[in-house]
Amino acid sequence: AKEPLRVLVTGAAGQIGYALVPMIARGVMLGPDQPVILHMLDIAPAAEALNGVKMELVDAAFPLLKGVVATTDAVEACTGVNVAVMVGGFPRKEGMERKDVMSKNVSIYKSQASALEKHAAANCKVLVVANPANTNALILKEFAPSIPEKNITCLTRLDHNRALGQISERLNVQVSDVKNVIIWGNHSSTQYPDVNHATVKTSAGEKPVRQLVANDEWLNGEFITTVQQRGAAIIKARKLSSALSAASSACDHIRDWVLGTPEGTWVSMGVYSDGSYNVPAGLIYSFPVTCKNGEWSIVQGLPIDEFSRKKLDLTAQELSEEKALAYSCLS
Ligand code: NAI
Repeated sequence: AKEPLRVLVTGAAGQIGYALVPMIARGVMLGPDQPVILHMLDIAPAAEALNGVKMELVDAAFPLLKGVVATTDAVEACTGVNVAVMVGGFPRKEGMERKDVMSKNVSIYKSQASALEKHAAANCKVLVVANPANTNALILKEFAPSIPEKNITCLTRLDHNRALGQISERLNVQVSDVKNVIIWGNHSSTQYPDVNHATVKTSAGEKPVRQLVANDEWLNGEFITTVQQRGAAIIKARKLSSALSAASSACDHIRDWVLGTPEGTWVSMGVYSDGSYNVPAGLIYSFPVTCKNGEWSIVQGLPIDEFSRKKLDLTAQELSEEKALAYSCLS
């Protein structure tokens, strides 16, 4: 039998946490034969709610769940963890300036970076979900210099999955037959959902999405804005932000990272830019990646047309500005 892996979820008393922890305990994230010990962190005002979640995890009697640590102490939460899913953060409230929200999150991610650096297991894989996800991940990277930069990522898989979903609905095909969309850049409304390399499995073989949809106006317009603004549409409908889809895509992100992407398939992950596709190095930027042996690598050599180039640059610009704002909060 496999040794259990320790999985940290911060902000575990929140909405996404409530959807995510049972998925992890059922083996959705690390596989049906991988026992887990859940580490759940939240802040003092949420301690009682967090304990309630722990009670429910016990009550659910998950066979793979070998232990639960529920705490408001970041050091206890981070100790020995193999995977860290960072969902906790400070939400933007009405009337707050961008800089104030950034400042709160920078200080949270700076201190949690230190706790992870000192206490997590060697080779811990980190996924930042909390917004601004890319920039929170960048701060975490900066303040955990001994964690390899390739181990620090942010979630854009939700946007990736949303793009697959839109294509599947438009063409009336199974979502599992659509692949190789790309989310470039920031997990924000400047992200660029790109279908130029996406395909659909049909009875006549794999066909390009562009050929099957045969409507560039829709693909270059409404499709992009629908994916970019899907988060806002969910809030409008639910009066709460996406939680089940966020939790599910966080599981997809870690599962593919650890267990590998299928041959011929790539996914989108926010990773530390090495300058690929002329994206400025030193940003956490969403790229198409394949994963093997627990490591991601950016898919190289995809042709980028002029329309796409502008969109890749625009979202990089926004991330450079966020980075500058985050740094201004540090001084
Ligand atoms: P929520 O407000 O329901 O839960 C957040 C939890 O974090 C709360 O329980 C809060 O007490 C906790 N928290 C606050 N500061 C903390 C700290 N310093 N340490 C530990 N926990 C802390 O929010 P929800 O809906 O669960 O969303 C969480 C985050 O995920 C938000 O920032 C949201 O914008 C982001 N998000 C990101 C998505 C993505 O695709 N990257 C998709 C959906 C949401």
